[in-house]
Amino acid sequence: MAIRSTKQTWGSVSRALHWLSAALIIFGLTHGYWMANLLLPRPLRLPHYVWHSTIFLYCGLLLALRIVWRLSEDTPEQPKASSRFEISAAHVGHLALYVLMIALLVTGYMNWSAFPARFDPARAAAMEIHLFANFKVPALHKTLDRDVFKFWETAHMYLAWVMAALVVGHILAALRHHFQKGNDVLRRMVSGTSDTG
Ligand code: HEM
Ligand code: HEM
Repeated sequence: MAIRSTKQTWGSVSRALHWLSAALIIFGLTHGYWMANLLLPRPLRLPHYVWHSTIFLYCGLLLALRIVWRLSEDTPEQPKASSRFEISAAHVGHLALYVLMIALLVTGYMNWSAFPARFDPARAAAMEIHLFANFKVPALHKTLDRDVFKFWETAHMYLAWVMAALVVGHILAALRHHFQKGNDVLRRMVSGTSDTG
């Protein structure tokens, strides 16, 4: 089992990083929607917001690792039978997935930083985020501004919807490659086997 990716297939590190981030993003989208919209009574939401923020700040480190690893190796070429449009669509789609992962992290962090409960002395301590046991995450916002908070909250929410739509398109494209076109695009991401050796 090769560790590094080649022009023919994905290596084990890239595959592990892909499936781990896929599971985390799908979990983040569903749990995020649940905690922000369905969980009642509302005060129960705060611990979930902090938990969600903490998990996804760790995911930011995972994403950084993924991007560095991705830039350091070859990547599989698109199947020979693909049209130029399909090849460009795959490139743009994958780039958009990376951009959205970064944008969700940034807007999520700003959302937490501007969150009203952080400025309420009774709830501020419960909103703190600690990474690696004792690194206290600093906040950018020093005073409460509800319009600023609303902006980041709305941006984070809309980006989550765009991400959800993109993920559905991405999954449909992968299934189309496998079942309709019968090529190795899905297989080389699942098991690392490829038609071209
Ligand atoms: C939330 C979930 C997901 C995210 C954020 C995501 C993200 C990505 C990204 C960014 C790439 C490009 C890799 C690169 O060029 O570095 C990729 C490739 C790929 N993904 Fe996903 N993915 C997700 C879920 C899935 C699922 C559920 C499937 C299968 C049904 C899948 C199948 C694939 C395949 C087959 C490739 C390789 C495409 C190729 O070789 O050109 N992904 N994914
Ligand atoms: C890829 C990563 C992330 C995903 C997929 C994600 C997903 C979501 C979703 C779907 C919601 C519910 C939006 C709504 O319907 O209102 C949400 C809310 C929230 N997220 Fe994230 N998030 C991510 C990263 C982060 C990060 C890094 C932080 C903070 C450091 C964060 C903090 C929050 C907070 C505080 C809320 C509650 C928003 C509110 O109702 O005011 N998120 N997230």
